[in-house]
Amino acid sequence: MIAIEVHLDADAAAAMAEDVRAGLSASPKELSPKYFYDERGSQLFERITELPEYYPTRREREVLAGRSAEIVAAAGGPGTLVELGSGSASKTRHLLSAMRDAGRLETYVPVDISEEITHETARTLVEEYPGLHIRGLVCDFETDLERIHSDGEDRLLAFLGGTIGNLYPGERREFLTRIAALFGPGDHLLLGTDLIKETARLEAAYDDAAGVTAEFNKNVLAVLNRELGADFDLDAFEHVARYDAREERMDIRLRSLAEQTVRIADLGMTVEFAAGEEMRTEISAKFTRERLECVYAEAGLEMRGWFTDAAGDYALSLARPIPA
Ligand code: SAH
Ligand code: AVI
Repeated sequence: MIAIEVHLDADAAAAMAEDVRAGLSASPKELSPKYFYDERGSQLFERITELPEYYPTRREREVLAGRSAEIVAAAGGPGTLVELGSGSASKTRHLLSAMRDAGRLETYVPVDISEEITHETARTLVEEYPGLHIRGLVCDFETDLERIHSDGEDRLLAFLGGTIGNLYPGERREFLTRIAALFGPGDHLLLGTDLIKETARLEAAYDDAAGVTAEFNKNVLAVLNRELGADFDLDAFEHVARYDAREERMDIRLRSLAEQTVRIADLGMTVEFAAGEEMRTEISAKFTRERLECVYAEAGLEMRGWFTDAAGDYALSLARPIPA
């Protein structure tokens, strides 16, 4: 059974317009990474996950393939899996299978801003898991987090892929605090985080030789052209991906190759770019176990499990609210 609620309404379009207006008026200019993921952006991200340089997806899959039964048992054998930023849910199948094998699987709740990929994922999962109830939410998981309702079942809330790293520290703290506030006594968070490593490997993962990440990055300009009547020339920008060791995060930008003027018709706005000017489109924070324990504590959560791949590149951690 599939039921998918879509909450990308006129309010969401207005919020995008205001968000883009603010980002392009700021100095330095900035766009939110959530606008990468139209249908083409989701497809490009899927290609990124298969690139030789982009290790996080493979490492996370390694952990989930080997340890999902242990993770599900440590989370108390929940019947409901909620997944934020579910995308194609390709690695999620290991968790669903472990829940099924434990005789617990009932409901899967994918939550994603991309409508196309959420429908596609739901269609394939009901075939693979007969009897599974899918209650999807197409929405912005930040603004609409509280739309996730409890049916009284214990829940595992998975936030995989390292997507937490795309939030700034203040946004991350607020988001995790809100997640903790949603939780009942039997609920757990399973969080995927990329770990700090050599700069060369980090930078290569975000600047692949085939240029797929560059195409993904520039796709945000195509989204603005379509959604807001902008006239960005995608060839007039280049992809930049640098590791900021002080902030412990990748810093991803688009650099204007020339002095240029861009018109955003629906915002009645003209934006000037200097030659060489950089506009940030994404950060991707990297963690250590100690750092993550602090991140959890600030949000009223405590770490209850730590699972890494053999090389120690990537971690999944299990957390729950600190008991009162
Ligand atoms: N979890 C998958 C996909 C990660 S890509 C994996 O590990 O491979 C990030 C996903 O989060 C995309 O599917 C994107 O559409 C979704 N996403 C990004 N920002 C979002 C937001 N603000 N609200 C809801 N979904 C979001
Ligand atoms: C979705 N998110 C965790 C990816 C990341 O690694 O930060 C998005 C991405 N951006 C460039 N490559 C992948």
